[in-house]
Amino acid sequence: MNILVTGGTGYIGSHTCVELIKAGHDVVVFDNLSNSSEDVLDKIEMISGKKPKFYKADMLHPDELEPVFLENKIDAVIHFAGLKAVGESVAKPWYYYNNNIVGTLNLISVMEKHGVKNIVFSSTATVYGIPAFVPITEECPLGTTFSPYAESKKMLERILSDYQKANPDWHVVLLRYFNPIGAHESGLIGEKPNGIPNNLMPYIMQVAIGKLPQLRVFGDDYETPDGTGVRDYIHVVDLARAHVSVMTKFSDEASTYIYNIGTGIGYSVLDIVHAFEKANNITIPYQVVERRPGDIASYYSDPGKAERELGWKAEYDLERMCKDSYRFAKNSLS
Ligand code: NAD
Ligand code: UFG
Repeated sequence: MNILVTGGTGYIGSHTCVELIKAGHDVVVFDNLSNSSEDVLDKIEMISGKKPKFYKADMLHPDELEPVFLENKIDAVIHFAGLKAVGESVAKPWYYYNNNIVGTLNLISVMEKHGVKNIVFSSTATVYGIPAFVPITEECPLGTTFSPYAESKKMLERILSDYQKANPDWHVVLLRYFNPIGAHESGLIGEKPNGIPNNLMPYIMQVAIGKLPQLRVFGDDYETPDGTGVRDYIHVVDLARAHVSVMTKFSDEASTYIYNIGTGIGYSVLDIVHAFEKANNITIPYQVVERRPGDIASYYSDPGKAERELGWKAEYDLERMCKDSYRFAKNSLS
């Protein structure tokens, strides 16, 4: 298939481009490079042997999307482009709602105009809010969100599924990612946050290479086995491969399909710290501090539906996630 990857130079997008090319697909990327750089395309070529065709385009400017669809016969869109920093979204709600929602509405219009009716959307486990039950299945009701970022994802799920209902020849696939970490084994592509990282693994990576002195563990008095927060961490390459598996869905009945993309295993913050230390034979100094406002004690997925319907299952274990994260950190973040 000829697949358009929006946000394709970003963290998850770049790994997905590699896996799509490896599976024999042709890949076109657009990105405004607000949170990534163009040299990622060379890295994708070094790994996969093919450089995706690239458009520097902003989804807030529909005129910049037109040539992408005019010059390529696109079969399906994987839509990663968006802003994703939870804290920043609280400080800049207009910027987040505008970029994520208006940008996606523009994308839908251009797709419709050019007869492209297959889309995979990057959603998040945070749409479940404080989950009604754990492990979380796709039947779990959506909850109250705690940030404009998470709310923009919940709204976009609704917008896309409403659009599909009104336009029943569209295929919409909503993927709810749990916590992606790790990097490609080459060490060439991975997550490069701007400034001081907010998320656990990017923070650990900076402590590991000596850029930050120590990790702050946000609370050890949760009702979890060791008192620290529990999440479902998934290797970004496994996550990328889930998108490849989804491509088969486009020959099924047109509908809205929803899948959790996780491993089904919950690890605590201290599990991650100790696994990282063991996998890489280093020490990660840490200090327990206050809970981070808005954090939930524990959640992880039931990924069974994706396995049953897509034939996809996460393969990489935590040791592999920690090794690949550290390799990328040493190669690219020092
Ligand atoms: P990322 O920031 O690395 O990639 C997103 C890309 O979108 C960036 O390259 C950025 O430059 C681009 N972009 C942003 N606004 C754009 C616009 N208006 N026009 C064109 N390009 C634009 O993020 P990521 O971690 O790869 O996440 C990809 C998607 O998955 C995002 O939608 C994110 O919300 C979602 N997601 C991420 C996580 C996570 O933990 N990384 C978890 C759940 C969901
Ligand atoms: N944590 C620390 N110290 C840190 C950073 C995080 O102890 O410096 C803890 C948190 O308290 C939490 C766990 O590590 O218990 C994971 O926190 P992250 O910030 O890495 O991830 P979250 O689960 O809070 O949220 C992430 C993304 C969201 C996304 C969600 C689910 O930030 O955008 O995963 O996909 F929606």
